[in-house]
Amino acid sequence: MPELVPVLNRKVIEDSLLAVSEQISKDYKGRELVLIGVLKGAFIFLADLIRHLSIPVKADFVRVASYGSNSASSGSIRLSKDVEIDLKGKDVLIVEDIADTGLTLEYLRNHFSTLGADSVKVCVFIDKKERREKHTAIDYVCHVVEKGFLVGYGLDYAEDYRGLPEVYHLKL
Ligand code: IMP
Ligand code: MG
Repeated sequence: MPELVPVLNRKVIEDSLLAVSEQISKDYKGRELVLIGVLKGAFIFLADLIRHLSIPVKADFVRVASYGSNSASSGSIRLSKDVEIDLKGKDVLIVEDIADTGLTLEYLRNHFSTLGADSVKVCVFIDKKERREKHTAIDYVCHVVEKGFLVGYGLDYAEDYRGLPEVYHLKL
């Protein structure tokens, strides 16, 4: 049986949401902000984040396929669902579960700039440093985790564990 070692509990998750959402609400006051969640992993993070913001925002989603059903990145990125909101003249905030190699975020940043967004910034739930390949600016970070494969709070291993309310290190 795989072992689940606790990494982030409800209290530290809630505290980080409060801090990050306060900063975002301040930084984007009076702007036209579109949160773009990266499916599927970011669905819970985006749902919690948007309810903590004190400014009006729009939400959209993209689906990126870079991981198969294992825990090693394939390195190639494909967009299997694009945004539906017109991004011209809007400020975009990419909402991502984990920055790992950084390849997904680099790809998406370029993609949304191409679609005519005024600005593109990045908010991640977890910044995982161990395997970073591409230096990519991350503007808002809830948690930094050095290494390991994480599950829960939207994060999966072969589609399992997404519904766990806390984050665990999965030891296979
Ligand atoms: P990258 O930064 O392009 O390497 O890929 C990041 C994506 O890989 C994230 O959006 C996650 O979906 C997935 N990922 C990376 N590390 C983990 C992990 O520890 N648990 C679950 N998914 C992960
Ligand atoms: Mg993801």
